[in-house]
Amino acid sequence: MTIRKAVFPVAGLGTRFLPATKAVPKELLPVVDRPLVQYAVDEALEAGIETMIFVTGRNKGAIEDHFDVAYELERIQADRGKPLDALKGTRLTPGNAIFVRQQEPRGLGHAVWCARDIIGDEPFAIILPDELLIGREKGCLAQMVAQYEKVGGNLVCALEVPMEETPSYGIIDPGARDGVLTEVKGLVEKPKLGTAPSNLMLPGRYILQPEVMGLLATQEAGAGGEVQLTDSMAKLIGKQPFHGVTFDGERFDCGSKLGFAQANFALACRDAAMGAELRGWAKALLG
Ligand code: UTP
Repeated sequence: MTIRKAVFPVAGLGTRFLPATKAVPKELLPVVDRPLVQYAVDEALEAGIETMIFVTGRNKGAIEDHFDVAYELERIQADRGKPLDALKGTRLTPGNAIFVRQQEPRGLGHAVWCARDIIGDEPFAIILPDELLIGREKGCLAQMVAQYEKVGGNLVCALEVPMEETPSYGIIDPGARDGVLTEVKGLVEKPKLGTAPSNLMLPGRYILQPEVMGLLATQEAGAGGEVQLTDSMAKLIGKQPFHGVTFDGERFDCGSKLGFAQANFALACRDAAMGAELRGWAKALLG
């Protein structure tokens, strides 16, 4: 079955970015000129996703506005003879942008479960917008969909990190490897230092079978007192095929200030209009 639906959990509080995120959703913070959630939606569109499901919460209404039609803006731009390219990708097909509420931020697993009725009985993708993944030839989700067409089942994006960083992430217990595919034998959320079964972390892209929703429904809070998606995914291992897909590209952890600053600098340096000037300026600044 093709992957038609993607869930974007955007209900988190974004406390690491306070005060910026007091009134502005973290997912709308821009990298150069596009909000994080726009990169996520563009990645989904490239992978053939038709229905975008945003799990929102209080203070996240601006995300809905972002993907709405801005009549005044479009008219003014048109009257001034300006191209509408700047708004590209923000006008989603009517009815194909769906917003559901997570009333309390009880964790990623709980946020995904909030989309259960819209997902129904079909496999679906999940994209965490604060993980900015720039694919080398094609986007991360498109890379995963290509593998899904071969092996089906459940897929997680996999990325190597230094061993000392493993306590911050969901980590794969790997089995046999075949090209970009690694069999997943187990998953651990935020293992204690020195106990991780590998250095393959999960950078926030998933293709899952709908059975995960039933597991999330009954789930207690796990690491950090939150309902962890990793714990429910782990229960599917052995029952359904489960693989990691090694991502070919760059990752920016835009949930952290360092990763966010790095993303802005790296992408601005590559920008056709300002990249050369910025690189020259940075060189002079750093001596
Ligand atoms: P994070 O844990 O990185 O986001 O969740 P956060 O909780 O907003 O960030 P900090 O730690 O307070 O700064 C990853 C993604 O999952 C969503 C977030 O919005 C983010 O896109 N999320 C997280 C939810 O939708 N609901 C939750 O309960 C938790």
